Amino acid sequence: MRSKAVVGNWKLNGSLVGNETLLKALLREIPRDNPVACVVCVPSPYLAQVRALLEGSGIAWGGQDLSRFAQGAYTGEVSGRMLVEFGSRYVIVGHSERRTIFGETDAVCTEKYVAAREAGLVPIFCVGETLQERERGETHEVLGRQVDALLQRFGAPGLDRGIVAYEPVWAIGTGKTATAAQADEAHAFIRRRIGAKDPDVAARLPILYGGSVKAANAAELFAMPNVDGGLVGGASLVAEEFLAIWRAAVAKVKGS
Ligand code: PGA
Repeated sequence: MRSKAVVGNWKLNGSLVGNETLLKALLREIPRDNPVACVVCVPSPYLAQVRALLEGSGIAWGGQDLSRFAQGAYTGEVSGRMLVEFGSRYVIVGHSERRTIFGETDAVCTEKYVAAREAGLVPIFCVGETLQERERGETHEVLGRQVDALLQRFGAPGLDRGIVAYEPVWAIGTGKTATAAQADEAHAFIRRRIGAKDPDVAARLPILYGGSVKAANAAELFAMPNVDGGLVGGASLVAEEFLAIWRAAVAKVKGS
C-alpha cells in the first residue's frame, strides 16, 4: 500500500507562543508510532522551536521552500542543508503561491526539487491549474507540463520517495474544494503520466490533495483511491481541525 501523509503548511503564520500551544495540542493525540505521516511545514525561523517540541514524537517537520543553491551570495535564501540541520525531513517545492506571487517557473521548481533531493529531504512537489485554465479545459495540459518538467530532468526514478501534491489554485484558501471526483481524476492523470515512464514508481508515489481541506471534507476526499492524504493550509493552524483531518487519513488506512 502507498504511504499516506497529512501535511500542514503554516505559510506566513505563527508565533512562538501560538506554535507551542498548537503543537502541544497535536502531541497530546498523535502517537509516536503513526500509520499516517503527520508533518508540519513551518516558517524557517521557527525550526529550532519546532524541533525542540517535536523531536522523538510521531510528528515530523519541514520547510515551505528552499533555495535552489547550496550556498553562497544569495541574500535571503535558506538551503536544504540548513533545513536538515534543524531536523527537517520534508520540504514543499513549487507551491502555487511561490509560482504565482514569487514568479517561480517550472525550471526553478525543478532545480529546487533537485536541491531538496541532494540535501536528503523528501520534496512535496506541488502542481495545479488556475480557475481560468480549468475553465478553458487545460487542466491536463498544465498538470502534464508541470510533471514533465521533473520527468525530463530526472526520469521517473527521480520521483521515487518523493511526494506530489495536487493543489488546484482556485481551491487554495478560497473555501472552494475540488470535489472528491475532480481530485481523484486529476490524481489519476498525474499517476498515469508518471506511470507511462515507470509504472512501479507511479504506483508507490503518494499524491496528496491540497486546497481548502478541512475536517468536514477530509474523509470524502481521502476515500478516493488515488488520494493519499492532504496538504493543508488554513486548517492546519487549528489543532482540532488538523487532528480531525489526520484522523480521517488514519481511518482510511485502517479501513483498507
Ligand atoms: P488551504 O491551503 O488549505 O488554506 O486552501 C492549502 C495550501 O496552499 O497548501
